[in-house]
Amino acid sequence: MSTMMLALDPPAPPPASWQLPPAMSDTAPPVDGVYNFIFWFSVVFTVVITFLMLYFVVKYKRKPGVRPEPTGHFNRLEIFWTVTPTIFIGVLFHVGFSSYIKNATAAEGATEIRVRGKKWSWEFEYPSGDRLPSELVLEQGRPYKMIISSEDVLHSFFIPEFRLKRDAVPGQYSFIQFTPTVTGPAQVFCAEYCGTTHSGMLATVKVVTPAEYKEFEKTLGKCSEGPEICDDKHPERWGEKLFAKNACTACHGTGGTGMIAGSKSPAPALVGVFNTMQPMMTGPALMADENYLRESILRPNAHIVQGYSNVQMPAFVLKDSQLDALIAYIKSLKQ
Ligand code: CUA
Repeated sequence: MSTMMLALDPPAPPPASWQLPPAMSDTAPPVDGVYNFIFWFSVVFTVVITFLMLYFVVKYKRKPGVRPEPTGHFNRLEIFWTVTPTIFIGVLFHVGFSSYIKNATAAEGATEIRVRGKKWSWEFEYPSGDRLPSELVLEQGRPYKMIISSEDVLHSFFIPEFRLKRDAVPGQYSFIQFTPTVTGPAQVFCAEYCGTTHSGMLATVKVVTPAEYKEFEKTLGKCSEGPEICDDKHPERWGEKLFAKNACTACHGTGGTGMIAGSKSPAPALVGVFNTMQPMMTGPALMADENYLRESILRPNAHIVQGYSNVQMPAFVLKDSQLDALIAYIKSLKQ
């Protein structure tokens, strides 16, 4: 009975060391092993070599009455200090490369999740077709394969707690595989400079128990923010959450004000836009009604507002309920 209980209790996350964040996936221990090996190897050699250098400096310093004599070749010593480091480098390469290969092979039957990087957010597509912005929910003990791509420029998908980092390259897929071993939160970073809001290109990872994961699957595509926000009478509250989660604020400013840290944001302000005529780069002005907002979210390049020739907004794929909420939010933004 007690062993049953132990098997059901999630293991406590191993504490972060003074160098590394907590290890939360099966890929972490081998990486940490290699890291610690290389680290202590370097520490030992740095200390030994520095000590010997200082010792020789003192021992062979110039003394009165002693004349230096040139040293000739000493073949055995020269071979020794060439061959020994080569062996060490061979060992280090083997240790690093074998764990790299192990991490690059996907487990049989792994659940595939598509990871898309775009300026400046992450999106996760589940096997059900649901696309979630900025939050990756994973089940503890389930093997995963992430299929990583980019919609614009080079990004890099980095989860320190899993010890995994892979470039998201436009026009091709890259992969990582892992099994989360510990429940709890982890952090996604973009590890490749990709423009002004690179440092804000974040997402969270939540590793949950199998029971919690079943609950999560039921909420896919629906409002899951709690009764206060998912209230049917106030769709704009959910819309506001979606606006932040999809990182719309990164370009349109918090609250769609068109201002970021006191200067003009890279995308137009949304406050007061609804039901006004908007001048376009080409063609006549358009009325910013519900259909216009919907099109602008799904196909940002369809009609371009004057002054914004260089459109960097990625196309968003959202369920109708999510679109309705977002549009309700934009409508609610008044001066
Ligand atoms: Cu995306 Cu840096």
